[in-house]
Amino acid sequence: VRRRAVLVGGALAAACGVATARQAPLLLRFSHVVAPDTPKGQMALRLQALLHERSGGRIRVEIYPDSQLWGDDDEMEALRLGAVEMLAPSLSKFGMAGVPEFEVFDLPFLFRDLAQVRRVTQGRVGRELLERLGRQQMVGLGFLDNGFKQMSAHRPLRRPADFAGLRVRVQASQVLGAQMRALGARPVVLPFGETQRALATGVVDAAENPLSNYLTQQLAPLQPHVTLTQHGYLGYAVVTHPRWWKHLGRADRALVRQALDEALQHGNRLAAGLDQAALATLRTQPGVQVHMLGTTDRDALRQAVQPVVEQFRRSVGPGLLDAVHGVIG
Ligand code: LMR
Repeated sequence: VRRRAVLVGGALAAACGVATARQAPLLLRFSHVVAPDTPKGQMALRLQALLHERSGGRIRVEIYPDSQLWGDDDEMEALRLGAVEMLAPSLSKFGMAGVPEFEVFDLPFLFRDLAQVRRVTQGRVGRELLERLGRQQMVGLGFLDNGFKQMSAHRPLRRPADFAGLRVRVQASQVLGAQMRALGARPVVLPFGETQRALATGVVDAAENPLSNYLTQQLAPLQPHVTLTQHGYLGYAVVTHPRWWKHLGRADRALVRQALDEALQHGNRLAAGLDQAALATLRTQPGVQVHMLGTTDRDALRQAVQPVVEQFRRSVGPGLLDAVHGVIG
C-alpha cells in the first residue's frame, strides 16, 4: 500500500516536472538491487559524480542500492509511473517484461568470456536489442557487464547428478527455470532482495550468482561451497522512460547520455577486476570452499542443458541466435 501511494505521488510529480524550465534543478533517481561495491553500484556512483561535476550540482542523482527503493518485482512498474528515472535490471529480467529476445543472454554456455559478450552488446545486435525495449515503454541506454555465474550450495555442484532435487533460486527468466529443470533441480523464482533470507531460512538450497553478488550479499556463511561452473552470463541494460527522456530537453539529454556512456565504460572496465577480487577474497575466507570444474564435468553439465538452447531458439528468435553466433564466432 505504501509503495502504491509513492507510485501515484511519483507519477504526479513527473507530470508536473514536464512544465519546469530547462535549467531548473533536475533529479534523477537511480534504483538498483545490488550492493555499491559491484560493477552496477560503481557505475551508478560514477554517473552521480560526473553529472554533479558537469552540471555544477544542478543535476542530482539519488542512488538507491540494495532494493531500498524498488525491487525486482516492482521497479519496472515504478519506472512506467514516474516514481524512479533510471534502472539497470539484469538482462534476464526483460524477458518476462515483454522482450523475450533478451533471454538469449541466459542461454547456458553460450559465451566463453566477456570479450565475446561485448562483441554482441557493443555492436549492431546490441543496438537492435536496446531499440526493442521501446515496445515496453523503455529507452535502452546501454549495456553493462557483471560477469559469469557460479553455483553455490551446501555441497559442491560439479555434475548434473549433484543438482538432483535441489531448490535453486533463479531470476524471473523462462530460460533459467528450464536450465535448472534440465539439471534435475527445482527452480524457485525470487526477487534478488529476498534471496539471502530464502537461503538462510531454507526456502531454497542453492543459487547462481556472479562472485561479486555472492560476496556482497554475504552468502558465504549460508552457502559455503562455491563451484566455478561459469555456466551463464549476467549483465544489465540501463533503461529510462521515454516520457522523462523527452522531458529532459536536448542539452540535458546530451549531458546525461555522455556521462552515462562514460559511467558504463567505467563499470565495464571494473567488472572483470571485481570478479577476480571477489574470487581472491573467497579463496581465503574461512569456511568457504571454492571448487574448480574439470573439462569432463563441464562437458557433462553443458550436455545436460543443451536441450534448453533448442527449446528457446524460437522464443528468443532463431535469427537473433544466429546473429549472436555469427558475432561471437
Ligand atoms: C539477480 O537477480 O540475481 C541479479 O539480477 C541481481 C543483479 O542485479 O545483479
